[in-house]
Amino acid sequence: MTRHTYAIQCPFFPTFPPLNSTNPFVSSQANYKNQIQVVVAVLLALCLINCSSCLKLGETCDKDHKCDGGLQCEACPANGNTRYRCTRTQPISPTSKVKGLPFNRYSWLTTHNSFAQSGIKSDTGSFIITTTSQEDTVAQQLNNGVRGLMLDLYDFRNEIWLCHSFKGKCYDATAFKPAINVLKDIQTFLETNPSEIVTIFIEDYVESPQGISKLFNDAGLSKYLFPLSRMPKNGEDWPTVDDMVQQNQRLILFNSKLSKEESEGLAYQWTYVVENQYGDDGMKDGSCPNRGESPAMNTKSRPLVLMNYFHTTANRSSACEDNSAPLVNMLKTCHDAADNRWPNFITVDFYLRSDGGGAPEAVDVANGHLTCGCDNIAYCKENSAYGTCDVPPISPPPPAAAPPTTSAPIDEGNQQLEQDKIHVTPLKLLQLLWVMWGMTTFLT
Ligand SMILES: *[C@@H]1O[C@H](CO)[C@@H](O)[C@H](O)[C@H]1NC(C)=O
Repeated sequence: MTRHTYAIQCPFFPTFPPLNSTNPFVSSQANYKNQIQVVVAVLLALCLINCSSCLKLGETCDKDHKCDGGLQCEACPANGNTRYRCTRTQPISPTSKVKGLPFNRYSWLTTHNSFAQSGIKSDTGSFIITTTSQEDTVAQQLNNGVRGLMLDLYDFRNEIWLCHSFKGKCYDATAFKPAINVLKDIQTFLETNPSEIVTIFIEDYVESPQGISKLFNDAGLSKYLFPLSRMPKNGEDWPTVDDMVQQNQRLILFNSKLSKEESEGLAYQWTYVVENQYGDDGMKDGSCPNRGESPAMNTKSRPLVLMNYFHTTANRSSACEDNSAPLVNMLKTCHDAADNRWPNFITVDFYLRSDGGGAPEAVDVANGHLTCGCDNIAYCKENSAYGTCDVPPISPPPPAAAPPTTSAPIDEGNQQLEQDKIHVTPLKLLQLLWVMWGMTTFLT
């Protein structure tokens, strides 16, 4: 039990006679025994579901009151929210909600500089003095539903490294790790998740001949590569995700060097994707210009749309605000700029940071429009016509401020009761009904 409010619920169990006791009701009346067994079993099952789960989205959390899976406990002072609450870290898996569409009919959470993790040392042994953009490993990102990765590759120490450069050169203190290490994690992910598709965007500074092809080969990733020859060049739909999964072509690689499409067969990104300006210039409200290398956003011969939304200098404290309402606003702006196309890749720094739904929510919004014509993929109705939506009633916004800590002391018991009033769920009502039903049967 990770949440003390359940301390009130779970002790309901002992009010039933223990199954193997010598309680006269149980031993003399097999009928009651059966019913009690059923009630206890159901309650136990319910409690296993309920008591092992924790706080929901938006609920106030702290180190003793942990958030459910897919959420983390976070405040967002940059946005005026000082109350620690459970915020999202994972988008809804769009292919499991609406199945079998062409690849370009989905949107994917994408991390900028996916490898530039805060708080780690360089594999060179050096301290890292360059900016960082994320807080967890690429493996963890994949497990959270990140499906687009941006990787900067450099020749370094006779290998290819994930690195930031200082005037075009990789140094010990700006190098993160050999690329092969991260690519092997991606290989493991693809192997253990046979229906997932991952896209890698390479910022390519590699000069060594066939360096990148060799690297992907060494990492065991070549067999997953989506072939260049199958990439649509004239605005056609991509193959369906089912087809890509069936053929095991589940790794899409886009590269930033035009010449390598010829020499190494690496897809030149902007032949297939339009992309808006990155950095501060890409964060101006109401405008979504293309980045220099990309054709204009409304170029329909490129069936994939990538949206960047992160500062020129990564800023962890402002990320929770950037990744929230402003991100969804820019999503709409870029949708309009891209001739009514919702971005397929939504790229942010510090994807875990938000004041609630964050980047996962933005991805859900894009996926709602892309897959079923609803404002959020959560509203898509199964087996229904496009545009049939199941929109839940809007609940009032939770308080932004942290609760005062200097107010009159409330005794622990009352606080628990207060919290329970707030957290009455259908599941708990059901539990209560079971208990009452069990009691009445028992007393009849
Ligand atoms: C980072 O964001 C915070 C919060 O918005 C802001 O106060 C700070 O000035 C920013 N830092 C930089 C270097 O821009």
